[in-house]
Amino acid sequence: NDPRIYGIKTKIRVVPDFPKKGIMFQDITTLLLDPKAFQDTIDLFVERYRDMNISVVAGIEARGFIFGSPIALAIGAKFVPLRKPKKLPGETIFEEYELEYGSDRLEMHVEAVNPGDRALVIDDLIATGGTLCAAMNLLERVGAEVVECACVIELPELKGRERLGGKPLCVLVEYR
Ligand code: PRP
Ligand code: MG
Repeated sequence: NDPRIYGIKTKIRVVPDFPKKGIMFQDITTLLLDPKAFQDTIDLFVERYRDMNISVVAGIEARGFIFGSPIALAIGAKFVPLRKPKKLPGETIFEEYELEYGSDRLEMHVEAVNPGDRALVIDDLIATGGTLCAAMNLLERVGAEVVECACVIELPELKGRERLGGKPLCVLVEYR
């Protein structure tokens, strides 16, 4: 394991009972306050992906934008935001996914991604995997190949990885 990972982990704040009782919230805003740890986070992903011919980095609103944008710039890929409903002005497709109560959806501009694009999907955290699953479906529907998904944090007990249909998932930090 890379020695930089420990520093990253210590900068992620765990907030009990947020946003509601019983949830241990993984707060990456404290990681963003430390330029060294934030840079290390980006560098670890860039070192992994720079030679994998990634043509598109798809970042999931909202925290996937924070990590996805600098990674896209560093590896020379286009950045495509996957957004919550009714934010995108162009022609969109959407995927719905289940939350603990109710459902949510992600939308993507159809013209932003082309058949043959090689995609990396980025978010801050994987819990149940529903969000990443919806993101992958959006990209695959327009003919892109999802090469890998990447998150800063994984909650392995929620078994989100098993919902990704065998797609590789790279995470830096696990919380059990
Ligand atoms: C959180 C987190 C991931 C998602 C993971 O986002 O940032 O996107 O949940 O959960 P899952 O693996 O069970 O789908 P949230 O939906 O809270 O929205 P936000 O990022 O806009 O705050
Ligand atoms: Mg999110």
